Amino acid sequence: MNFNYFSEKINGEVIFDVNSKNKIFEYIKNKKFIVFTSKSHTKRGQIKKILNGINERNFHIIDRIDSHAGLDNIWDLYLKIKKIKFISKIDYVLAIGGGSVLDVSKILSIKSIYKKKFDNIKSLIQFLSQSNDTVLSSYKFIAVPTTSGTSSELTKWSTVWDYENKKKLSISNPNFSPEIIFYDPSLTLSLSKKNTIISALDAFSHSLESIWNNNTSYYVINNASIAAKLIFSNLPKLINDQKNIDYRSKIMLASYFAGKSFSITETSIAHALSYYITLEKNIPHGIACSFTLFQIVKLIEKNKKYKKIKPFLEDIFGKSPSKKLNLFFKKINIPIKFSYYGISLEDFNGIIKSAKESQRYKNSMIDLNDFTYS
Ligand SMILES: [Fe+2]
Repeated sequence: MNFNYFSEKINGEVIFDVNSKNKIFEYIKNKKFIVFTSKSHTKRGQIKKILNGINERNFHIIDRIDSHAGLDNIWDLYLKIKKIKFISKIDYVLAIGGGSVLDVSKILSIKSIYKKKFDNIKSLIQFLSQSNDTVLSSYKFIAVPTTSGTSSELTKWSTVWDYENKKKLSISNPNFSPEIIFYDPSLTLSLSKKNTIISALDAFSHSLESIWNNNTSYYVINNASIAAKLIFSNLPKLINDQKNIDYRSKIMLASYFAGKSFSITETSIAHALSYYITLEKNIPHGIACSFTLFQIVKLIEKNKKYKKIKPFLEDIFGKSPSKKLNLFFKKINIPIKFSYYGISLEDFNGIIKSAKESQRYKNSMIDLNDFTYS
């Protein structure tokens, strides 16, 4: 356990503003760019609002990014963009959306892929995974996250679903970092209660996962603790007062600090457990990666071999962290037992097996053999 080492590559600028429209406008008004977003954002009119006043000849909108984008979706978009003549004139990619939009935009903002010929999405992904930043050129990437959860804008990897092989693919490339990030909590006001909870729980899991992590450090733990405390105290309030911009800001800030911590450590045991649960039981990612946190925290609290981690949890939750966490999940109405999610003992054994094979489990200080079915 080494808390004293960390390494971080800082790129670009971060602007946090509850009314970012004017700042985004100033930044993009004279640029030629492609906008990546999802259908739901164009339907809700959010994109129109942001682009209002910009010459329509200066941008092209692609709003077909799926909410849990898979490889087929990326391949379709890639082929479509390749045919657009406008692509040769642009310098910038403006990505406005949740984690899926940002993850797909990272891949599609690599300029080099449009100059090459690929037979299928697998060869495109392989090219990206094997090429380093000196080989690739990219469009300048502007990220405007509209959820407070994945922190995709802060990581150098893109996570997409490989539905055919039932797994989550993580493609890592240093070129995936934005030149500028605009955090605007007002963009999260239209999120449903369900999506507010799901995305915040994802950030909550990212923060805690970077603490019981073999790549952790005091620097990481400080950022992670800020994030976890903000979510622990503000999410229950936010779900009872969803238009409250102060609570929205605190949850978005939490997502930023969670991103700063897990972009260094990667995720860990709860995420390793979650992938099977999402794919086989169709449980949204933010819930699948967080309802097991209760059991992990309880293990740390009760088992002497985890005694070095316990003080960090007590700093976040106070005395008896597992009791506090149990209460938190009750307040936001998220069950913490496997059985509630239709997971049988047999399923549980499958989950443990698949988690042990996950890359993320290698980051974990917590032993999966200590885990039990409930
Ligand atoms: Fe996650």
